[in-house]
Amino acid sequence: VLEEAGDLVVPSLQPQARKAVLISNAKVFGLYGQTVSRSLKRAGLEVRTFLIGDGERYKTLRTLDSVLQFLSSEKLERTDSVVALGGGVVGDLAGFAAAVYLRGVDFVQIPTTLLAQIDSSVGGKTGVNTVAGKNLVGAFHQPSAVLIDTSTLETLPRRELTAGWCEAVKQGAAGDRDLFDSTVQLLRGAGGPLQAASNNGVDRLIAKQCAFKARIVEGDEREAADRNDSGSRKILNFGHTSAHALETITGYRRFRHGEAVGLGMLVAGEISKGLGLLDPSELELLQEAVRSCGRLPPADDLDRARIIQLISQDKKSVGGKIKWILLSRIGRAAIVDGREIPATLLRASLQTAFQHRL
Ligand SMILES: NC(=O)c1ccc[n+]([C@@H]2O[C@H](COP(=O)([O-])OP(=O)(O)OC[C@H]3O[C@@H](n4cnc5c(N)ncnc54)[C@H](O)[C@@H]3O)[C@@H](O)[C@H]2O)c1
Repeated sequence: VLEEAGDLVVPSLQPQARKAVLISNAKVFGLYGQTVSRSLKRAGLEVRTFLIGDGERYKTLRTLDSVLQFLSSEKLERTDSVVALGGGVVGDLAGFAAAVYLRGVDFVQIPTTLLAQIDSSVGGKTGVNTVAGKNLVGAFHQPSAVLIDTSTLETLPRRELTAGWCEAVKQGAAGDRDLFDSTVQLLRGAGGPLQAASNNGVDRLIAKQCAFKARIVEGDEREAADRNDSGSRKILNFGHTSAHALETITGYRRFRHGEAVGLGMLVAGEISKGLGLLDPSELELLQEAVRSCGRLPPADDLDRARIIQLISQDKKSVGGKIKWILLSRIGRAAIVDGREIPATLLRASLQTAFQHRL
């Protein structure tokens, strides 16, 4: 796909498109940049490259400003495009730049992490972090095209794969039993998270994951505040309420986001069981699925009272109320008001989930 990127991208751009600004970071560009750049040029585009720093700490307004200045200095026009080559950080930031530059130019995603391939490249959420928190400034801006080359997963570090697999399990668990089963089957059948990423079946699974995400987004693109049904875009936040607290309490240093989501799903699963929503056998399936994603960092040493306090301040609250995404079964989410969850159950669920052997 990377070799053919130009021919694949051009039909989705405006007929007058002349220039493309390729945004990446040094690591990803070093691996795949020349291939993509050459291919875009062969398809007739003038290509300029801008590299941002590697990592979440560069997903800022300051980096956005430098990208926007570059687009201006290159005189990118309304009919031109921005191409993001990299993980979710590059995709979110480049997408936001494309959303606001000249009030919106075309934008193409070429995601190179598993998380970006199954999740962040699809759905049009773009943005940056501020000192107040993650993803607090952004825009909805749908990509004109998303090109996925799964061979890029071969160079991805193990933890990034585990984080991506956790998000893959999340999507199935929250909204599609068949997707959940296919994901677990690939992980088990291939013999582990690394092997699964290079298995022949990964292409089909990623396509299925994208189709699922697209289906949910089509039904609720802007994540309507008043929707609490199982088709709401909110269900994609399954596992995120405790994940955000875990990331915050460890200063974003211990967990990759997907790893924290892995643990967060176990917490939400325990709560679901405790409320009598989820059958214990379904919780076991969820636990096995999370385990098959690979080892997760420990969380049982963390201050649970502080985690509970952080959960109560979750930024995903609606009208000041915390909404938990729970499960009534694998593949069916239930959105529950935080006040319906007794404090004792929350405490016990955190304890049990974090002591679970992974
Ligand atoms: N827009 C959305 O809907 C959405 C959804 C989920 C997550 N996100 C965002 O995505 C971001 C996380 O994305 P991520 O997990 O892809 O992290 P990332 O972009 O930081 O990439 C992880 C690491 O892998 C490296 N890398 C990327 N591709 C590689 C490859 N093929 N080989 C070797 N190394 C490679 C990167 O340089 C980086 O060091 C977060 O900022 C999160 O907020 C957005």
